[in-house]
Amino acid sequence: MTDTLTPAAANGDATVADLTLEEKASLTSGASFWTTKAIDRVGIPSIMLTDGPHGVRKQRAGADHLGIGDSVPATCFPPAVALGSSFDPALLERVGAALGAESLAEGVGVLLGPGINIKRSPLCGRNFEYLSEDPLVSGVMGAALVRGLQSQGVGASLKHFAANNQEADRMRVSADIDERPLREIYLRGFQRVVQDAKPWTVMCSYNRLNGVYTSEDPWLLTTVLRDEWGFEGLVVSDWGAVNERVTGLVAGLDLEMPSSGGRTDAQLVAAVRTGELDESALDLAAQRNLDLVRKAVAGARADASYDVDAHHALAREVAAASIVLLRNEGGALPLAPGASVAVVGELARTPRYQGAGSSLINPTKLDDALTEIRAIAGADVPFAAGYAADGTVDDGLVDEAVAAASAAGTVLLFLGVPAELESEGFDRDDIELPAAQLELAERVIAANPNTVVVLSNGGVVRLPFADRVAAIVEGWLLGQAGGGAVADVLYGRVNPSGRLAETIPHRLEDSPAFLDFPGEHSHVRYGEGLFVGYRWYDARAIDVAFPFGHGLSYTSFGYSDASAEATVDGIVVRVTVTNTGDRDGAEVVQVYSALPGSGVVRAPRELKGFAKVFVPAGESRVAEVRVRREDLAYWDTRADAWIVEGGAYEVSIGASSRDLRAVVSVEVAGDDVRAPLTMDSSIGEIVAHPVAGPIVMQALAGDGDTGALVSDPGMFKMMASFPIGRLASFPGMPIGRDDVEQLLAAANAGA
Ligand code: BGC
Repeated sequence: MTDTLTPAAANGDATVADLTLEEKASLTSGASFWTTKAIDRVGIPSIMLTDGPHGVRKQRAGADHLGIGDSVPATCFPPAVALGSSFDPALLERVGAALGAESLAEGVGVLLGPGINIKRSPLCGRNFEYLSEDPLVSGVMGAALVRGLQSQGVGASLKHFAANNQEADRMRVSADIDERPLREIYLRGFQRVVQDAKPWTVMCSYNRLNGVYTSEDPWLLTTVLRDEWGFEGLVVSDWGAVNERVTGLVAGLDLEMPSSGGRTDAQLVAAVRTGELDESALDLAAQRNLDLVRKAVAGARADASYDVDAHHALAREVAAASIVLLRNEGGALPLAPGASVAVVGELARTPRYQGAGSSLINPTKLDDALTEIRAIAGADVPFAAGYAADGTVDDGLVDEAVAAASAAGTVLLFLGVPAELESEGFDRDDIELPAAQLELAERVIAANPNTVVVLSNGGVVRLPFADRVAAIVEGWLLGQAGGGAVADVLYGRVNPSGRLAETIPHRLEDSPAFLDFPGEHSHVRYGEGLFVGYRWYDARAIDVAFPFGHGLSYTSFGYSDASAEATVDGIVVRVTVTNTGDRDGAEVVQVYSALPGSGVVRAPRELKGFAKVFVPAGESRVAEVRVRREDLAYWDTRADAWIVEGGAYEVSIGASSRDLRAVVSVEVAGDDVRAPLTMDSSIGEIVAHPVAGPIVMQALAGDGDTGALVSDPGMFKMMASFPIGRLASFPGMPIGRDDVEQLLAAANAGA
C-alpha cells in the first residue's frame, strides 16, 4: 500500500462490481491516520487526506489530529478568522489555489477544510478556524476557498457538518436547534458552498444535532445534503466521529477516518451477511470512495512543486487585506517612515500567528512585526517586551515599557490572547485579554496616550481601553507573514480594507448565546434562535464596541445614487462609491435587507450581499451587488420549504451593519404559499385571504350585531386570533358552520 498518492498505480477500470464484500467494506474506512485503503488486486490506490484548513499539515512520521506531531513545512496562510475579515472572495480563491498547489506537491488528494461553522459564541475555542457569525459571509468565502483549491485538482472537505459551534463536550453534545435557525443560520452557508462550489467531500461533525449524531443522521447526510442540495461527493467522518458504523453508513456516511483497524469494516460485512444492511448501501458508499480516489488520481502531479517565496508573499498580501483597522483617531495611522516610534509587547517579537490543534502548520518562514517595522521605519525603533512570552510580567518589564513609551512619539503596543487560552478542543472562559497585559496597557496609555494597540487573537476580546487609545489594529491570527502585513498597514504601504465578520461586544454578557453556552448534560439549547451575531445586537438594540462589518481605511468613501431593482433572480443593488480622500483604497459595500411588517420573526437587518471595490483616490466606481432571490427566503416550517415573502423590502446599503448610508425600498413578488384554510384558521388569516377575506368581511359587516367586529379596529384586533370555526358556532352569527365549510372549500380551490 502506498502512503501517498501514486497516480501510476491507478486503475481507472475497477468498479464496485469487481470487488468482494470485504473489499467494498474496506474501501469505506481509512488505512491509517491519513490515508484510504488501496486494493492492489484491482489496482485501486490509496489517497491521502490531511489538514487543513489554512495550510498543508502533512505529518512526517507518527500521526495525530491535535497538532502534536511534526509536519512537513508548508505555507501557513492566515487562519479563517482573518480570511473572513478580508471580505474578498477573489483573494480567497487565490489562497485556495495556493493550498491546492502545496497539496499537490505533497501528494495530498484532499485537504481538510474549509471550516465554516458559525461563530455562535465568542467563547468557542475554534472560532479562529471559522469565517464569520453570518451565514452569507461563511458561504461566499467558503465557496471561494473550495473553488480555488479544487481548481488545482485537489479536493476540499467542507467541515464540520453541522452545528459544531463549541468545543466543550464536542464529541457528545447535542446542539438542540429549532428548524428556522438551523436552516437559516447554521446550514445556509453549507448549502451555498455545496451548491456553488461542489466540494469533493463534506466532513460530518463530532456532535449530535437535535439528539442524533451527525455521523449517523440520515436527515442531515442524505435528505438535506444530497436530496435537497444535490451533493454528489463523499461524506467523511471527522476523525473519530463514528458512533455506530452500520447506522452511519445507512445514513450516508461514506468514509470512516481514521482507520478502525478493520474492526468496523467487519461489522459492515457481518451486517450484510445477516441482512441487517442492504448490500446496495455499501455499494453506494464504496462507489463514492472509488469516485473520490479517481478524482484525486486525475488531479495528482508527480512533478508538482510550488514557489515558497511567492506563497509567502501571497500570505502577506492576504494578511494585510484581512487586518481590520478598528479605530484611528486624528489620523494616528499611518506612520511616516522615520517617525518616532517605540514597540512594546512580546507579541511583536514572538508572533502568535495561528491557533492550536489539528490546523497547526509548520511554517516555511516566519515574520515578526518588530523586524518588519524596523525594516520599514528607517529609524531606530526601541523595543520593550512589557510581558514575558509565557504571559507573566514583573515590575522590571513594565517599567522598561513605560520608559520606552514615554520617550516615543507613538507607541505600538502589541497585545493578544496567549496560545494556551485558545485552541481546538476547549472553549475560552471569557473574552478578556490577560490581566497582566491590561495592566501594562493602562500604564503605557497613561505614559503616552498616542498609543496604537495591535491585537493578536483568534476570538474577539473585550477592549476596555478602546476610547483612550489613538488607534486599534485588529490583527487576528495572520499566518506566517502576518508580521510583515502588520508593518505594511502601520506604515500605510497597504491601506487597510478588512471588515469585521463578527461583532465585538462590550461585554460577554451582551452576547447572544450567553445564557445558553455551553449547555448542560450534553445538550446545548440554541435559545437565541435566529438572533446570532449582529442579528441579536440589533434586535435588542445593544450597544457594541465595534459592529459587524466595521473597518476603517486611510481614505474615506462617499456613497451616492443608490438603487435597487427587483428581477426574477433577486435584487440588483447599485451604488456609486467615491473615494473622497487622497489615498487609493478598497471599500466593502454591504447590502442588508429587512421586511417591515413581515409575517415571520426576522432580525432587523440581514446581510444579503457585499462587494469589495477598489477605488483610486478622487475617483468613483459603481458597486453592483446581486442579491439572490433564494437569499431573501426564510424557512417556512409549515411548508417545510424556503419561501420568499412578498412585500416592500427595505434594502440598506452601508459601510457596516451600523453605518448605513442609503435605504431603498423595493417591491418583491412573493412565493405563493397560501396554507389551506381550515375551520382552525383565524379570522385574521381568513381576512387576509384574497377569496375568503372579502366574503367574510362582508358577511360580518352586513350584520347589525356583528358589524362592530370589523368596523371597530379594537374589536377586530381582539377577534383576529379567533378560529373561524369557533366563531361560526356562536349563536346569532351571520355565517354558520355550513357556510364556512363551503367558503373554505371554494377559497382552497382558488375560486
Ligand atoms: C478536527 C478536524 C480535523 C481532523 C483531522 C479533528 O479533530 O475536528 O477539523 O480535520 O481532526 O485532524
